[in-house]
Amino acid sequence: MIEKVTARAFANIALVKYWGKQPGFNNVPATPSISLALESLKTITEVERIRSGKDSFFLNGSIVSKVIYRRLVEYLDFWRNNKLIDGKFIIRSHNNFPTGAGLASSSSGFAALTVALSAFSRRKISKHQLSRFARRGSGSAARSIVGGLSALPIGADPAARLLLSGDEVPWGMVVIEVEGRTKKIGSREGMELCRRYSPYYRQWITLANKDYRKMLSALRRLDFSRVGEVAEANALAMHACMFASRPALVYWSPATIEIINSVWQWRVDGLETYFTIDAGSNVVLLCKQEDLKEAIRRASRLKNVRSAIKSLPGGPAEIIELS
Ligand code: PMV
Repeated sequence: MIEKVTARAFANIALVKYWGKQPGFNNVPATPSISLALESLKTITEVERIRSGKDSFFLNGSIVSKVIYRRLVEYLDFWRNNKLIDGKFIIRSHNNFPTGAGLASSSSGFAALTVALSAFSRRKISKHQLSRFARRGSGSAARSIVGGLSALPIGADPAARLLLSGDEVPWGMVVIEVEGRTKKIGSREGMELCRRYSPYYRQWITLANKDYRKMLSALRRLDFSRVGEVAEANALAMHACMFASRPALVYWSPATIEIINSVWQWRVDGLETYFTIDAGSNVVLLCKQEDLKEAIRRASRLKNVRSAIKSLPGGPAEIIELS
């Protein structure tokens, strides 16, 4: 009988954002999304089954907060209630990047946990089903199960599907971590704020569906310029929806705006790169692989930039050790 499993997953950054949930309890996105998994943003999760005691969780060596604990127990209960697993677990998760800083740590976190839990199940679970399960923990995690460039459609109980595997994607990203992070409101809470209080929420949902179709078509042609344009506009529209919410939801810091302006200037100067921004102040650039070095050089020189990390496309979530 398996006692301990270690799994690895890569975080992903969306080019068309998931922002908003459908009513109900199954964590079903209200917008379809498309993302790229990044090999430089990695979570390794070790899951150990215990005979007695209660579930416990450690993130980067420390006990997790009450809020995260509840969310994780809820997720394990979902597996237990569906008779997929039984028993209690000790979960130790390590991220090699900042957690909860708008860098999609929940995507790789829940994907690694999901794949690890599947090893304890007596049932054979397809990747499609695993993606659905991961989605219950975190919408973006559904896409990290698949890795590469993947799409998560809307629907009753959606799963992500692979559009292009990591090695078929000729692009990469630069993850720019900035100084002066503003107070973090988690994506769940942020989405709910927008749904309830943003006058632009409905328009955002309509627009996100259009951007999804535009992105699929641009990706089929591997049209980098079009992909970048749609990604940038989509991220700005999502943030506009947040800004307009009453109370307003503003994740940006001055450095975020400085990078946006710089990227626009770099394009004028001939470096073709596009930005996207998740629920945080950090900025992620989409680049052709041959331009990654230059983009990092320029980003590192900007004021208030803490780090600029080169990120090539990553693969699917996988089990790396069983004992
Ligand atoms: O998966 P969640 O619940 O952390 O939400 C992800 C939200 C964004 O990162 C802003 C967008 C996305 O599609 O990843």
